[in-house]
Amino acid sequence: MQASTSPSVRPRGSRAQAESLLTRLRLPVIGAPMFIISTPALVIAQCKAGIVGSIPALNARPKELLRDWIAEIKETLAAHDAAHPEAPAAPFAVNQIAHRTNERLDHDMRVIADAEVPIVIVSLAAPADIIGAVHGYGGLVLNDVVSARHARKCAEAGVDGLIAVCAGAGGHTGTQSPFALVPEIRQFWDGPLGLGGAIGTGRGIRAARILGADFAYIGTSFIVADEANAQEEYKDMVLAATAEDIVMSDKLTGVKANFLRPSLEAQGLTAAPSAGSQPGLKAFGEEGASAKAWRDVWSAGHGAGLVQQRAPVAALIETLRREYESAIG
Ligand SMILES: Cc1cc2nc3c(=O)[nH]c(=O)nc-3n(C[C@H](O)[C@H](O)[C@H](O)COP(=O)(O)O)c2cc1C
Repeated sequence: MQASTSPSVRPRGSRAQAESLLTRLRLPVIGAPMFIISTPALVIAQCKAGIVGSIPALNARPKELLRDWIAEIKETLAAHDAAHPEAPAAPFAVNQIAHRTNERLDHDMRVIADAEVPIVIVSLAAPADIIGAVHGYGGLVLNDVVSARHARKCAEAGVDGLIAVCAGAGGHTGTQSPFALVPEIRQFWDGPLGLGGAIGTGRGIRAARILGADFAYIGTSFIVADEANAQEEYKDMVLAATAEDIVMSDKLTGVKANFLRPSLEAQGLTAAPSAGSQPGLKAFGEEGASAKAWRDVWSAGHGAGLVQQRAPVAALIETLRREYESAIG
């Protein structure tokens, strides 16, 4: 039987859950977790401005730093709420890569559970013990997915929300059109649903909601934020880029991801299948071709072409909010 025609899974995530999370946000957006780039400064600024901020657990190095980072985020947001009861901060999230190659998984889960992190975003399928641990203290588990089959598997595992990562996303990207994936997931999933992939305007956030998603999941637009941990050259490259400057390759990490072409070329690399087509550049896999994804070769999604200005997070979110309010469908 086709996944799209099989009966609804009885989701743990419910419409009511999505609504209750949404009422705590100024804008229906999750600031997506970004390797290296997301630090407590970025997360705190996103939450204060009223969107969910998130951080990959793996950004805290050594691993012992994770406890301090989460404590810093919690204390700063609690102080903000005490000073601004009329505009409390949005909840924050920690991202876990649920793969056996992640040797820190158990350690990081203990820290997350001790601190009762409100939202855990799991990449790859969420194992039952992670879901159980987060539900044990009343937290929410969101799972990012790239296909309806993947979404169904996560829904059946008991996650509270799904995030459809579609074509053109920064980092590890999906390849499906949001116009296909969101309605396909909605055939069996009524719970909270995010959509990521090249959303960089308030109109885009509105479009995501009209399509059937509850939240936009936005990474690339925040690379240029003052609070983001990216080099100046990286921020400039994102500002100068258009969607044409983004190349998708699975050669750097083994999984399809989007990268800024100028950052590849700066390392003497090309994503073209035959190196001969671009003299002077080596193809991945060719002898002498090496560079570290994320650190030396920089990632961004198709939405790089929409990035207009460097600014503090609060100003970027205010622009999105104004655009979102004026783009009534
Ligand atoms: C530089 C960069 C690093 C990323 N690192 C992670 C990561 O560590 N974990 C993760 O789940 N997603 C990561 N992502 C993906 C984002 O969480 C999200 O799916 C994506 O940014 C959404 O698409 P957009 O960039 O077009 O807004 C990364 C994205 C970028 C641009």
